[in-house]
Amino acid sequence: MPRIKGRLEEELNKQLNSELYSAYLYLSMAAYFDSMNLRGFASWMKVQAKEELEHAMKIYEYINDRGGRVKLDAIKAPPTQWSSVSEAIEHALRHEESVTESIGRLYRLAKELGDEATEVFLHWFINEQVEEEALFSDLLNKVKAAGEDPRALLMLDSVLAGRK
Ligand code: FEO
Repeated sequence: MPRIKGRLEEELNKQLNSELYSAYLYLSMAAYFDSMNLRGFASWMKVQAKEELEHAMKIYEYINDRGGRVKLDAIKAPPTQWSSVSEAIEHALRHEESVTESIGRLYRLAKELGDEATEVFLHWFINEQVEEEALFSDLLNKVKAAGEDPRALLMLDSVLAGRK
């Protein structure tokens, strides 16, 4: 297997950084929810943050397996405050849509460079993004349905606490 091409290695390193940023963003949302005593929302976001670290590690191992060099860059600071629960979840959904776009760009680059192994590697991420967008979109619908009713929000909070 030929060593991964420099341009693809660079873009995969950027995606690794972006997955770490996703973990940071969701951990920041967890802290926001904890500050509002929404422990279920916070716990759900902590699980999501862990998943993002797993995504980052998949890319880490792949770069290594292809003879590349993992280079960690600074992780930008996420926001710490949102105006409402639904604004935070909406932000998360928009963020996932932007991750889907960047995975798509990576995939097209792998194709352009004739790197089939990277194309196949990225299939997992393409499928994962379908699930991630559906997950956040479903959560946003539930939050919107709860609306301004604090009891409905607390009920949703206790359901979200069950995510493992
Ligand atoms: Fe790693 Fe939420 O995509």
